[in-house]
Amino acid sequence: MGGKRVKTLVAYFSAQGTTAKLAEALAERTGADLFEIRPREPYTAADIKWTNPLARCNREKIGKKDVPVAGTVSDWASYDLVYLGFPIWYYGAPNVIDTFAKGYDWTGKRVVLFATSGGSGIGRTAEKLQPYMPGAAILKAQVLQGPAELEGLLS
Ligand SMILES: Cc1cc2nc3c(=O)[nH]c(=O)nc-3n(C[C@H](O)[C@H](O)[C@H](O)COP(=O)(O)O)c2cc1C
Repeated sequence: MGGKRVKTLVAYFSAQGTTAKLAEALAERTGADLFEIRPREPYTAADIKWTNPLARCNREKIGKKDVPVAGTVSDWASYDLVYLGFPIWYYGAPNVIDTFAKGYDWTGKRVVLFATSGGSGIGRTAEKLQPYMPGAAILKAQVLQGPAELEGLLS
């Protein structure tokens, strides 16, 4: 047959572990490589306490700040399909996802966005991320309530 094997990456950011669990399950289910998008300066509990107007998360959001990422994906060019996961922050993707996206060439990549949230949907996240990933085809964008919903991402 000789069909080219699709090479898949699951890249995710998770501040509190919920998205991480789904990302790990997804990578296992699909045989994908896994890359954790870690801010160079890790978030402390105080940093993500959004009820505090002066917390880092609010300053980053309001200032539209870039959030530098630790490390890089090796062999990025080899991936055809990228699952990009994150928690919904302020009805969208956290700034660190924008910064991650800006760091790579997305030409020809197929992209599936997945997120966890406290109840919000994924909103206009795909439209908002698209300018940071020119050339990518965003196939899907979905909030997952739990691992049982992973199958829905794959179809
Ligand atoms: C700074 C911040 C902003 C958030 N904003 C939202 C929001 O707008 N809507 C929502 O449903 N949940 C919001 N949440 C809750 C997270 O989306 C939810 O707890 C998510 O599952 C956390 O994923 P994680 O454990 O992978 O970090 C927010 C959480 C934080 C820390």
